Amino acid sequence: MTNTYQDWYQEDLAYVHDQGFSDYALSAAPGILEILGQNEINSSDQNLIVELGCGSGILTQALTTSGCQVLGVDISAAMIAIAKARAPQARFILGSMFTVDIPPCAAVVSVGECLNYLFDGANNLPTLANFFQRIYKALQPNGLLIFDIAEPGLDSCDQATQSFVEGKDWLVLVEKSENPRQNTLTRRIITFRQVGEQYRRSDEVHVQQLYQSAEIADLLMEIGFEVKIKRSYGQFHLPDAHAAIVAIKPAKTA
Ligand SMILES: C[S@@+](CC[C@H](N)C(=O)[O-])C[C@H]1O[C@@H](n2cnc3c(N)ncnc32)[C@H](O)[C@@H]1O
Repeated sequence: MTNTYQDWYQEDLAYVHDQGFSDYALSAAPGILEILGQNEINSSDQNLIVELGCGSGILTQALTTSGCQVLGVDISAAMIAIAKARAPQARFILGSMFTVDIPPCAAVVSVGECLNYLFDGANNLPTLANFFQRIYKALQPNGLLIFDIAEPGLDSCDQATQSFVEGKDWLVLVEKSENPRQNTLTRRIITFRQVGEQYRRSDEVHVQQLYQSAEIADLLMEIGFEVKIKRSYGQFHLPDAHAAIVAIKPAKTA
């Protein structure tokens, strides 16, 4: 069976992610704004910021509130619908970051391990190399690419782990298993969301390709970026087996 864009972060999981898992983007936002500011990318109509995997628009809102012009891209229509309500000043495109046209911009940002997902087919180092090339072309000189990735080692044992999180009108159950041979992480996600008197069940399976930050940095440097690998966005320390990458397109290229 072929999956379609409708299969991931459907209405209920998009709602649950927004309600219960916004901390990551909220905590990352000040550090990202700081990096942008340090590189003189701040509130200006000239400075377009493209946010890939914008989800429900948590970082988008922080960026637009600080005066930046933002284009948000996400593969989930339900996520985009929430983001539009949260950050009405931004523009949004529904589509995959791996195929969408990236317009000329001052920065490209992506938080929440969005580059790891295998939603739209192969996601491997050649796909990423091509993707980074497109971003490099779109960025202005001194432009920035900031994103975080999940690395192997999230779950060191081969066995699946199960957990749940609950909110006032929802419950989410997650079974996680890492395949160390293929460097993939699979999350089986079951949500129950209250609709009237009843709880509605939805099921999704998300598979991610895990990358070592050093191999990603090598790809970026081959393209011409100057690269820093970080373990935090400002005061926000990333979870274990996560890295943030800050890549700059130098002003003068050979
Ligand atoms: C963990 S969520 C993070 C959302 C948001 N950045 C945040 O931190 O709240 C991952 C997001 O990446 C999006 N995503 C995954 N693969 C994508 C792709 N190929 N193109 C665009 N969006 C994608 C998902 O739909 C989802 O909204």
